[in-house]
Amino acid sequence: MALWGGRFSEGPQDSVFALSRSVHFDWRLAPYDIRSSKAHLAVLKKNKLIEEKDAQLIFAALNELADEVSSGAFVPVDSDEDVHSALERGLTQKLGAVGGSLRAGRSRNDQVTTDLRLFSIDHMLQIAAQLVELQDSILSKATEYVDAPSPGFTHIQHAQPVSFGHELAKHAHAFARDLDRINDWLSRTSVSSLGAGALAGSSLSLDPEFTAKDLGFKKTFQNSIDAVSDRDYVSEALFIFAMIGNHLSRIGEEWTLWASTEFSWAQVSDAYSTGSSIMPQKKNPDVAELARGKSGRLVGNLVTVLTVLKALPFAYNRDLQEDKEPLFDSFDTLLLTLPAVTGMIATTDFDRAKMSAAAPMGFSLATEIADYLAKKNIPFAQAHESAGKCVALCESTFRELHELTAEELQSIHPSLDVGVLAVLSVSGALKTRTTSGGTAPSLVLTQIKTAQGENDVTRKEISRKIKSFSEMMNQ
Ligand code: ARG
Repeated sequence: MALWGGRFSEGPQDSVFALSRSVHFDWRLAPYDIRSSKAHLAVLKKNKLIEEKDAQLIFAALNELADEVSSGAFVPVDSDEDVHSALERGLTQKLGAVGGSLRAGRSRNDQVTTDLRLFSIDHMLQIAAQLVELQDSILSKATEYVDAPSPGFTHIQHAQPVSFGHELAKHAHAFARDLDRINDWLSRTSVSSLGAGALAGSSLSLDPEFTAKDLGFKKTFQNSIDAVSDRDYVSEALFIFAMIGNHLSRIGEEWTLWASTEFSWAQVSDAYSTGSSIMPQKKNPDVAELARGKSGRLVGNLVTVLTVLKALPFAYNRDLQEDKEPLFDSFDTLLLTLPAVTGMIATTDFDRAKMSAAAPMGFSLATEIADYLAKKNIPFAQAHESAGKCVALCESTFRELHELTAEELQSIHPSLDVGVLAVLSVSGALKTRTTSGGTAPSLVLTQIKTAQGENDVTRKEISRKIKSFSEMMNQ
């Protein structure tokens, strides 16, 4: 059903209708559209812009429609243009002309962005809840491996030994920043646009503050032109998702490498692996690979929306309809990916013996020699040079650093006495890395506990917000 037509002599061409139709993707805004219609109805009623008995009829019909939408008894038909027109058709079918009353003082322009904000907040909270679970699985896994040494890398070359718990826990800090960004986004997105009308506000006595409060928004718009044009919250959400995708892709890359025959560090559980249709022996880390691959579309969706918005004139332009599909796709992608990655991490076992044997390889203890000399006040450039000589000697004689004899060490630098042998062990090296945030296992354990505590606080905060959002939706 078209919401316009009075001034037209003919309806749109089929190709025009097909191009402009959005109900096949914006139908998922229906529950939010109904809820915001109730808020608008309440203002019309409060300010006597609608008769009491009509308001009651519309309220009951909206409730009925909400049930029918959720059960699938009411669905869009071919002639519906978008979610708003489909729902108005539903109301009109129930109530006749009274069903069109809600359009007073409201345009699809302020309506669609109100719906989209509500949808986004609802789904962002679900993503936040899943991130909390992901954090939980990373931090629990990290706790298991606090005492397990492994090589730490730069340039994918052995650099310095680290606690493998430290290696795993680093990911939790990246997702903690994402959760922080979400929190920030939630407060900036919690702005109602209802009352902005098409662009200029309304001559009817509406009450934007009232509708904002009714819908659980913290604030109401300050400039009606901005209110209907602003899609910063869509762009910012897509940036957050691209960032989360980026973080997931780095986990994906590590897991894929670690599960390879060359590394053989990670044993990914069968339930989180897949096979090959031709090679019977294969067990592939597809969850990790998909996590890595999905990050591409998350970045793509951000770029799509930013490109649509670039140089877009104010106020509403139909280009803005292009905000929804990328946004929905990113929400869906993450809601699909996050639980699988969480499960993959929770069920992966790592080979401690292999990682520990690899830890000192590639002369990863060379910095210990340089630091040993630096502690004896040898200028670091000289200390670095001597440690380098130790590496060169080992390389030419096919040995590891801890296999150098006392005489050889002395001949490289007189201050390289036997004391250095004590630090030329992985456990010795790990214990000394006590700068805060460093890899000494005792510190790592404290870091993980702190991160778990913070995650618990976030979990409570998110579930409180989910509860209050669903209470608002059920009103
Ligand atoms: N389907 C439209 C969208 O998603 C709704 C707003 C239409 N407004 C208009 N003036 N044509 O943006």
